[in-house]
Amino acid sequence: MPHGNHFIIVTIDGGAAAGKSSTAGALSERHHLLHVDTGSFYRAVTLYLLKRGLTPEDEDKIREALQNPAITTRLRGRMARIAIDDEVPGEELRSPQVNEQVSRFASLKVVREFLLDFQRGHASFARENGFDGLVMEGRDIGSVIFPEAEFRFFLEADPDARNQRRVKQGEQDSIEERDRLDTQRKTAPLVCPEGAIRIDTTRMSLEEVIAKVSDIIEGEAR
Ligand code: DC
Repeated sequence: MPHGNHFIIVTIDGGAAAGKSSTAGALSERHHLLHVDTGSFYRAVTLYLLKRGLTPEDEDKIREALQNPAITTRLRGRMARIAIDDEVPGEELRSPQVNEQVSRFASLKVVREFLLDFQRGHASFARENGFDGLVMEGRDIGSVIFPEAEFRFFLEADPDARNQRRVKQGEQDSIEERDRLDTQRKTAPLVCPEGAIRIDTTRMSLEEVIAKVSDIIEGEAR
C-alpha cells in the first residue's frame, strides 16, 4: 500500500456541483481507493420511492416502502454502485425529476437511517475487494458517516461557477435550491465538518483541485 501501509478513508463533502465527484474519481484512480458517491444512493432511493408514487410528505408510507428492499453494492470499476432489489439504476438517477425531489426525500430521517449502515459498510467492502482505502463523497460524510476519517475535505465554489459546471454537463439542476434544503434540514445537514480542510474551487481548475488534495494525502501519509 502506498500510504504508510494502512487503509485510508478520505471524505469529500460540499454543495451541488462543487467538484466532489470529479475529484473523488481522480483520487480513487491515483490512490487505488474505492469511490463511493453517496449522492447516487439518495438519488436511487428517491427514484425507488417516486416509482411507487410517493411524495416526501408521505412519511409513513415511505417507512413502510423501505422495510422490504434489499440494498447491496455492485462494483463497477473502482466505483460502488447501489442495487435496490438487484436493480442498478443508471442514467435516470440524474433526471430533472430526481434532481428536483432528491433533497426533499434526503431530508427525511427515515431515508437517512435507511442508508446509514449501508454507507459505513463500504469500509469493509473496500478492504474485502483489495482497495487501499475509500473515498466517499456527499454532504454529511466527514460529520456523520466517518467523522474519524484520516482525511476530510470540504469543497465549495461560487454559485455562478457551479451553475456553469452543470450547464456544461448538460444537466437541468437547481443547485441553490438543493443547497438551501440540504443546509437547513434538521438531520445531518450540509456543513463543513469541524476540522475538515476547506477548499474554494471557484478559481481553480479540476487538475489543481486534484493536485492539492493529493498532495495533502501523500504528504501526510509519508
Ligand atoms: O451529490 P448529489 O448532488 O448527487 O446529491 C443529491 C442529493 O442527495 C443532495 O442534494 C442531497 C442528498 N445527499 C445527502 O443528503 N447526503 C449525502 N451524503 C449525499 C447526498
